[in-house]
Amino acid sequence: MKEIRVLGGNRLSGTVSVHGAKNSVLPILAASILSGAESVLHNCPDLTDVDASIEILEHLGCRVKREGSTVVVDSGPLNRCDVPDRLMREMRSSVIFLGAILGRTGQAHMSFPGGCELGSRPIDLHLSALGALGASIEETGGNLICRTHGLRGWELNLSIPSVGATENAMLAACCARGLTVINNAAREPEIVDLQGFLRAMGARVRGAGSSTILIEGGQPLHGCSYTIMADRIVAATYLTAAAAAGGEIRLLGVDYRQLSTVAAALSQAGCSIRSGNDWISLSCRGGLRGVCPVRTAPYPGFPTDAQAPMMAALAKSRGTTVFVENIFENRYRHAAELMRMGADIRVEGRVAVVCGVEKLHGAAVQATDLRGGAALVVAGLGAEGETRITGLDHIDRGYENLEETLRSLGAEIRRLDR
Ligand code: EPZ
Repeated sequence: MKEIRVLGGNRLSGTVSVHGAKNSVLPILAASILSGAESVLHNCPDLTDVDASIEILEHLGCRVKREGSTVVVDSGPLNRCDVPDRLMREMRSSVIFLGAILGRTGQAHMSFPGGCELGSRPIDLHLSALGALGASIEETGGNLICRTHGLRGWELNLSIPSVGATENAMLAACCARGLTVINNAAREPEIVDLQGFLRAMGARVRGAGSSTILIEGGQPLHGCSYTIMADRIVAATYLTAAAAAGGEIRLLGVDYRQLSTVAAALSQAGCSIRSGNDWISLSCRGGLRGVCPVRTAPYPGFPTDAQAPMMAALAKSRGTTVFVENIFENRYRHAAELMRMGADIRVEGRVAVVCGVEKLHGAAVQATDLRGGAALVVAGLGAEGETRITGLDHIDRGYENLEETLRSLGAEIRRLDR
């Protein structure tokens, strides 16, 4: 069984570049279907979720080749409209292919993505948006069958600024005749990156980053090349790692504005944060102190994906921090694992009260989900003794070369295949 072993106590120092964003490259890989031509994607991270997306593209008939961090997709030969059940189970966010397959072929078949470790993960907003654009949607025996005789632009109103529903609506709307307006759209930077890629293909999309996105569908789309943005959640994870271990690190290639809420919390905890156009640095000399309540919210609020790493860093601090997880109903599973390391955390529904302790100690712990797994690494860096982490498949979905990167910053961390 694969295991990460961390020997806590080393301070971190040095400079690293942050790899491409998982939550940007996944919808962009789906969007590459729309052009029927060649898309050259630079700064693609080497992650198992990216591998799964490439498998889906190849299943659909696309030709995909990978050269280092560049992925080239030729969606000309696409000749299918279904996503295999195995791949839907492997990666529930494959639902992001729905709008693109439907827009390109007029139909799309996939099994219901179902829930995951974080909760039920409904897709009602995705389906109502596609229905409003002119798709008929049949749900039988756990399968989704979407069809259309032609999508047409519509005014969509999302009751929740859902990232995935916004993305599915944008991709389908590119193939819909006329104007689509998405109200209460998600404002995440990954949505802006998706707009950038769609525009590079010749789509007429504007407003991403605001709550209202407009798409003039039906434009002829062509091949393009595009560079994926840096992963702001991976950057947040490295910042919390340096806060937990102490030291001074600089992250290159990131837009510090995307990290403002994370940086504000770490600064309040006693870290010193500096930033420039495409870098951010953190130095932490002494211990951390508790901060004002950390409430997760849609962007530009505190990112739910940074909640677990932030909790891991603040588990060892002077004072108490209250977390309120407003996005997912079951996103505190890492708390029990942190408590095995000596953390003092009380979870009540969406609220977790973290009473900072003076020391954490190493323990055998198990990753419960992607960001929860990263949180255990963060905690191990600041703990006394050795922490052994299993469940690495979760971590490998979203972090490329995590151990190597932390080792280059001075951490004593390695991966074993026992
Ligand atoms: C995306 O998930 C990200 N995943 C998640 O990152 C991230 O946590 C989330 O956005 C929020 O920022 C990818 O981009 C691949 P949502 P998504 O739709 O699109 C509810 C990670 O760790 N909802 O914005 O699934 C939903 O239940 C992952 O990298 C509905 O009710 O998130 C949740 O409570 C985890 N109906 C809230 O909206 C719907 O149809 C926000 O979900 C859709 C969503």
